[in-house]
Amino acid sequence: MKKKFLTNLSALEEKTPTHFVVNYLDLVAIRYGEEVSVLYGRCLHRGALMSDGHIEGEDIICGLHGWDYRYKTGVSAYNNNEVLHKFSSWIEENKVFIDLLEIEDYLKKHPQPFQRNEYLGVYADTHAEPLKNSIRFIVFIAY
Ligand code: FES
Repeated sequence: MKKKFLTNLSALEEKTPTHFVVNYLDLVAIRYGEEVSVLYGRCLHRGALMSDGHIEGEDIICGLHGWDYRYKTGVSAYNNNEVLHKFSSWIEENKVFIDLLEIEDYLKKHPQPFQRNEYLGVYADTHAEPLKNSIRFIVFIAY
């Protein structure tokens, strides 16, 4: 284990998804009472930042198309096969820590496609669909 400070617990607002980047990996942290859940920070649908979503009941809801995940576990109640990885985290004296080795291991298994130095690179669509012919036509007309 390689202990890494993430944030002060008091800096997290109750049930408010908060964005963090650790080693270029997007995370979302949700505080509930004196506990914190730290999840992979990108929606499994098309890669939106989960910190742009909101909490509704037991779920964190993606701000783009509404995919839901239980904020305490990362598992989608709608489809249990869709799971935002939950990272180990713990609190010591009002400080939230994570395990950097776990982050590094996750990144080896799940290289991230986001080009943070490029225009809109942070917002890459992780499951872009090919353009349909009707859309191609509209794009063609626009130019
Ligand atoms: S990107 Fe999250 S629901 Fe589509």
